[in-house]
Amino acid sequence: MSTAVAYHEATKYRPATLGEHPGLDWARQPVPFKRYDCLDPIELGAYLPIAPNPFTDGEVGAEAASDATGLALISRWLFFTHGVTATIAAQPRPLHLRAAPSAGGLYPTELYLVAHQAERIADGLYGYDPQRHRLIPLWPGAEAHAAVVEAGYGSAALTGSDLCLIATGVFERSRWRYRERGYRRVLLDTGHVLGNAALAGHALGRRVHVTSAFCDELLERLLRIDPAASAEDEPSDEGALAIASLLRPGASDRPHWTALPSTTGSKDAAPPLANAVHRAGRLPAQRPRPSPPAEAEPNALGGDPLRDAEPELAALAGDPLATILTRRSTRRYRRDTITRAQLAEVLLVAEDPAVAGCGPASALDRGRLSTFVAVAGVDGIASGVHSLTPGSLTLRPVRRLDDATARNACRFLCLGQDLGGDAAAVVVHTADLGAAVAAMGDRAYRTLHLDAGILGQRLNLAALALGLGASGIGGFFDEQVTDLLGLPRKHAIVYVTTLGIPA
Ligand SMILES: Cc1cc2nc3c(=O)[nH]c(=O)nc-3n(C[C@H](O)[C@H](O)[C@H](O)COP(=O)(O)O)c2cc1C
Repeated sequence: MSTAVAYHEATKYRPATLGEHPGLDWARQPVPFKRYDCLDPIELGAYLPIAPNPFTDGEVGAEAASDATGLALISRWLFFTHGVTATIAAQPRPLHLRAAPSAGGLYPTELYLVAHQAERIADGLYGYDPQRHRLIPLWPGAEAHAAVVEAGYGSAALTGSDLCLIATGVFERSRWRYRERGYRRVLLDTGHVLGNAALAGHALGRRVHVTSAFCDELLERLLRIDPAASAEDEPSDEGALAIASLLRPGASDRPHWTALPSTTGSKDAAPPLANAVHRAGRLPAQRPRPSPPAEAEPNALGGDPLRDAEPELAALAGDPLATILTRRSTRRYRRDTITRAQLAEVLLVAEDPAVAGCGPASALDRGRLSTFVAVAGVDGIASGVHSLTPGSLTLRPVRRLDDATARNACRFLCLGQDLGGDAAAVVVHTADLGAAVAAMGDRAYRTLHLDAGILGQRLNLAALALGLGASGIGGFFDEQVTDLLGLPRKHAIVYVTTLGIPA
């Protein structure tokens, strides 16, 4: 058993043990931002095409109508990826909601920008301060980009890029509430942020390459964060998780990689296992040899080919930035039905965004995830569990259930949350974790969860653009979900997304 499998087993939610959480220590709640003291930040607020604009005292920013080049491009890419899009008055401090959702609203993902021969910004490394929507210069000069390229094994998707975002996870923000299972949510949350980065970059006229193939130590040295340097039993604070690079439109240059294998750690790794699995998945300075890609699932014979449902195709592509700006996770569904065409469009945007007009399908190692849809209220599709073949977008029935049984099952599996029971459809991403680790080492744990978050963000946005509701669900009874899907319990349930009619 690998460290990844041991971590996954240890962090399963089980009906018998769910109530064992000792309660939250509110006095120690982490702040969801890095604190930067800086005398010469780069202010980005005036470039946002939003009204009212909270970063310019409500006025429309002076540069709001400018082309998406130079600082306007940077401002908009950062804002629509992970900016503060709403603020709710709360005690002891206001709650800032972001462009991407986050489990428990804890926002563990941090962003850094690396500029290299970009317009209107000096070469160097910058920290992103979302609260004030500004960049903090951290390290000037061309060395920052050179360090990213070196960490990314000379990938052409990094050498050819003028702007890259490095996404890190600050683990304590999620651990504070979810303990060891927090690491899963950090990865899923960061996947949602990467989903926005790809979609927003495309909407701004660029191509985006997302990768998890980098040497951790080299990248973390650049960021002055280095969890490997902390003691084995000390919780590490922050780790690099992914790089999204902005490229000119056109064919992608080679070589480039989105995922590379690590070695595999032992099942007897010392707790905390979240640290152990992150550490076991680190990549070395010398580029690992790529693993053969996962075999594509054969296109289903028979089944229900959803591409025939004539999805509207334009809903999210019409104004993706407006959808990100107004996006919120649905808090309650009305028990009502959605149509087969609506479900088809949501799944199409997630699986084949290019066909849906939303840019290339950014993913790290998509082939190692499987997708199921539990249907409880979709006109034209029988209730029950279906497996989805992503290439042909074909649904194949796994298990027939009546509507009420399907709803009860989904509610229970989502830890009794009404979002599960009232949803019209529940999309579940799973993985044969043992096989994924055999091919990709313990790094597979990261890529599977980042990919599921990327897909989850596209599911969310596609649903909202159609006027439907959506919410990610990070809390579920793992083994009971595998039972419902007809999978062996050793398969990992990676992520759950609910879809329905907002109440
Ligand atoms: C990985 C992940 C897991 C989540 N799990 C749940 C959940 O189990 N139950 C729930 O009600 N909301 C869940 N959410 C939604 C968050 O509560 C929501 O994103 C957060 O409160 C911020 O609100 P917003 O998405 O409307 O901006 C999840 C979101 C993410 C990204």
